This record gives sequence, C-alpha cells and structure tokens, in this order.
Amino acid sequence: MSCRLLKPREFDNLAHAAGLSRDAMTEHYQLYLGFIDKANSLTEKICERQHVRGALDKSDIANLKGDLQFALAAVRNHELYFDLLGESKTAFPAELSAAVEEAFDCADGFLQDLRLTAVSSRGWAWTVFDLSTSRLWNLSGSQSGHFPLFNAIPILAVDLSDHAYFYDFGLRRGAYVDAILAHLRWDRVGRNLQAAMRLQQAANGPEGVNSPLVFAG
Ligand SMILES: [Fe+2]
Repeated sequence: MSCRLLKPREFDNLAHAAGLSRDAMTEHYQLYLGFIDKANSLTEKICERQHVRGALDKSDIANLKGDLQFALAAVRNHELYFDLLGESKTAFPAELSAAVEEAFDCADGFLQDLRLTAVSSRGWAWTVFDLSTSRLWNLSGSQSGHFPLFNAIPILAVDLSDHAYFYDFGLRRGAYVDAILAHLRWDRVGRNLQAAMRLQQAANGPEGVNSPLVFAG
C-alpha cells in the first residue's frame, strides 16, 4: 500500500456560510482536520506493519482497514460539503437544470426530494450522478462509510450529523437543511456534474468499464 499521506484542503467560504456561525464552522473544520490526522496515522500504521513480515494478522488488518475507510469517507464527504456552502443565492446552471428536469421534472421537485432525503437521514444526504442510468438520484446514508450506490458520483453532500447543526439550530434539523439548500453554490454543483459526465464519457469509451459487451461472430 502507498504510504503517501493526505493534505487538508482550505476553504475560504466557511466564515460566510449562510445560516451557520463562524464558531460552529471553525469547530466543524477542526473535526475534518481530525479525520485527516486519523487517516494519515492509520496509513502510516498499516505501511509500517506491512514492512515487517507477519506483523499483521487478519483481525489487525480488518480493524485498521475499517477505521481507515471510515476516516477517508469522512474526509471526502466533508470536503464536498464544505466546498458547496455559500453566502448568497445562486441560480442553477443550465447543465444542472437539464439533469434535474430529466430526473425530477422540475427544480422544485428536486429540492423537495433532496430536502426530504436530508431531513430523514441520520448521517449524510447526497445528490449523485449515476453512471449506470445517466440520471441524478438523491440518496442517504447513516454514516460516512455508508455511501449506498457504486458507479454513482456524488455532486452534492449535506452533513446531517448532530455536530453539523446543533450549535446553531438546536433540534431544528429542517431549518438547518432549508438554510443550506437556500444558499448552496449551485454553480459548483453544476461543475461537479460536468466532471461526473466527463467520467462517464471516459468510462463508456472503447475500453471503459461501461462499454457495451461485444460478442465474436
Ligand atoms: Fe461533519
């Protein structure tokens, strides 16, 4: 396994995220840094032990890998979530509007579905572009490591853990979700969608994982 370590990302928008206080975002960012440290220390531990023959037994590796997967998923989810927090209303870009209309008929239908998905989730809600069906879905997972659908690329993430909203909203989880959705940087969601679509084009190419099967004769 490669022993390269993660570097934390910086976000210049966290102090201005609508509806969320600077103190809450500072704490939340510290939590993210903790996941980076955790992922790096687990990577180092696995690397060190792999270089000593017989130093890792099956239960060792199961525990270390399980913890590493959770930390990596937490890092990735928080980076997507932080990157999209905004301060003012932005419109849906054209490519996002088209995908939303195809999957949900209209923007209101999409937002209603995303809101319900988020409010009912215990951990995370995502909007994904599904490479298998070429459409958007709103999905939920009970914790960072529980992303539910392979071959789907998350383009939007909402953190529904208590630590994400309790400081500013108390038990009013719906009000938190409304504040987030009203000010998301939809231009960036559109950028993420375009990146996912480019991945799909590459995957559908002559040697891509989704390329149609070709039979001889
Ligand atoms: Fe979080």
